Amino acid sequence: MALAPLSLVVVEAEFLVVTGRSGSGKSTLLNLLSTLDKPSHGEVMLNGVSLTLMNEKQIAHLRNSCFGFIFQMPHLLPEKTVLENVVLPFHYGKLPVEVDVEKRCSELLDYVGLGEFGLRYPDTLSGGEMQRVVFARALARRPEVIFADEPTGSLDAGNSKKIMRLLQEQVERGCTVIMASHDVDAVHYGTRIVHLDKVESSLRQEPV
Ligand SMILES: Nc1ncnc2c1ncn2[C@@H]1O[C@H](COP(=O)(O)OP(=O)(O)O)[C@@H](O)[C@H]1O
Ligand SMILES: [Mg+2]
Repeated sequence: MALAPLSLVVVEAEFLVVTGRSGSGKSTLLNLLSTLDKPSHGEVMLNGVSLTLMNEKQIAHLRNSCFGFIFQMPHLLPEKTVLENVVLPFHYGKLPVEVDVEKRCSELLDYVGLGEFGLRYPDTLSGGEMQRVVFARALARRPEVIFADEPTGSLDAGNSKKIMRLLQEQVERGCTVIMASHDVDAVHYGTRIVHLDKVESSLRQEPV
């Protein structure tokens, strides 16, 4: 079993941190909640609707329009510029009518402190800068939920702090953030911490 049995309710605009040692199932839990994986038992409900009742098309739409993703390693397309990478989520699904895509994505690059980087290519950026591009891309379609799996796992302290502050700011704006992390500094940003403990097959919840 990749994950011990658990029951978890995530509420709007909370910053939920899933912690626990390596192999305890943090990534598995995030993948289940974010539709990247399907549970072999149990179900995941979003706004009262079970994900198992949705077809592939509906799931793809949900993922693209309501969720933003940040992983440990920043995945950017190397042959596209920084700005083109941020625009990518608009290439799938219906385009919101009133959105000036380029303008919105440039503003997002400004927001993450990379306003001057739009025309550069990913391989000219540091790891911390790449992760901020990923952050801008995750925000492109104004997600309701951001899933962040060890987002600071490959960053130095300064860049980690920048990413954590950006996540925190999104929560303050009403976005829900679900983050897996065993970085003690990062964990403190959570408004609630869930600790996965595989050995005892149990879930401990520690309010902060
Ligand atoms: N698709 C899978 N099928 C079965 N077991 C898996 C799968 N993915 C991961 N695991 C196992 O499940 C456990 C939890 O993994 P993971 O969610 O990656 O933990 P964490 O993110 O906390 O390090 C590990 O023992 C891992 O080897
Ligand atoms: Mg993991």
